[in-house]
Amino acid sequence: TMYAPVEFSEDDYPRVEYQRRQQFWDPIRLALFTLAIVAIIGIAIGIVTHFVVEDDKSFYYLASFKVTNIKYKENYGMRNSREFIERSHQIERMMSRIFRHSSGGGRFIKSHVIKLSPDENGVNILMVLMFRYPSTDSAERIKKKVERILYQSLKTKQLPLTINKPSFTLTSIDSKKMRNLLNSRCGIRMTSSNIPLPASSSTERIVQGRETAMEGEWPWQVSLQLIGAGHQCGASLISNTWLLTAAHCFHKNKDPSQWIATFGVTITPPAVQRSVEKIILHENYHRETNENDIALAQLTTRVEFSNVVQRVCLPDSSIRLPPKTSVFVTGFGSVIDDGPIQNKLRQARVETIGTDVCNRTDVYDGLITPGMLCAGFMEGKVDACKGDSGGPLVYDNRDIWYLVGIVSWGQSCGLPKKPGVYTRVTQYRDWIASKTGI
Ligand SMILES: *[C@@H]1O[C@H](CO)[C@@H](O)[C@H](O)[C@H]1NC(C)=O
Repeated sequence: TMYAPVEFSEDDYPRVEYQRRQQFWDPIRLALFTLAIVAIIGIAIGIVTHFVVEDDKSFYYLASFKVTNIKYKENYGMRNSREFIERSHQIERMMSRIFRHSSGGGRFIKSHVIKLSPDENGVNILMVLMFRYPSTDSAERIKKKVERILYQSLKTKQLPLTINKPSFTLTSIDSKKMRNLLNSRCGIRMTSSNIPLPASSSTERIVQGRETAMEGEWPWQVSLQLIGAGHQCGASLISNTWLLTAAHCFHKNKDPSQWIATFGVTITPPAVQRSVEKIILHENYHRETNENDIALAQLTTRVEFSNVVQRVCLPDSSIRLPPKTSVFVTGFGSVIDDGPIQNKLRQARVETIGTDVCNRTDVYDGLITPGMLCAGFMEGKVDACKGDSGGPLVYDNRDIWYLVGIVSWGQSCGLPKKPGVYTRVTQYRDWIASKTGI
């Protein structure tokens, strides 16, 4: 059976009641009271800033340099190409080797390649480097330290890439600029203080999942809602305006003007809300077999990327995850079969299951097509469920997150030998490109 879109119940939403205003507040009392409150808040912020924030601070740099022992390839121009991904991972690994194992290198957080561009004798690299140092340090002093560590490594370390020293420049940038640079790359998660989120190592278990801990942990997660009927399905943000979801979500209603999309870790209140302009279902979606359960929704106005709203990367069509790869599913769906929608986003770690296993007589008995991907556990328990439909199944490749599946169907939720079945995104990479240009 398919996860039917859920019915909205008023009881699931918190109600806020406002007290009636009293006559006690004449203007003078009100002014004095406001003044006192402002003063108290000011002092409190001062104290907190002094003891907590002043301690360590993030410093961001834009590094630009030339690598001379490799040749530029055309696919380096495409950030989702295998070539770009592999090369940038190599460069990022090298930076972490340079800075992690140096004296005072514990202060290196991470680096991200922004751009690879051709040079007559090699490849030009543009990347962001992030460090944490005591806030009393100056950006210029840290810059000198960073340059010293790098130049030292060029002399003493065997590095896979030859960095041309004269071409190396380092520019201090603020968090806003850093964020804008990273926005050119998909699948990156940040906390509100612009520190990259650590990889999710959680083994906690949407059925047997846990509430998502932080705003910004799954910034591509969308709640698709029918006006007047509330949350129906999940979806994933893949650009400023496009959402990817499941075709079956629109079974009841395909009229875009009846749908809204919200972002953020709670349904109410949402962090950002948009109306829907257009809905595109896969031409060969079959309700009976769940084949090609994929759809696109376009927002009427674009969203700005932030720590809370970010797009997920689409994997190259050639990428295949081996069985037992750790992946994460997120959603506002129920935690038990036929249970209510959750107002707070939940996440669960599941593992990919090979089609040979999933298609077995004792599992889904030949119902699995090449466009489907199974994930969960053969022993059951951890699974997606009703209301999670359309939502993301994502894979973390060195802190860049890729959308590998769309929650599609399953027999009940969390039963043994009945894992979740997802739309295999790689299979529809060309279809997505043909409709959106992404
Ligand atoms: C699953 O089994 C059915 C029936 O044997 C077959 O038609 C189908 O192609 C199989 N799926 C895959 C992905 O091989």
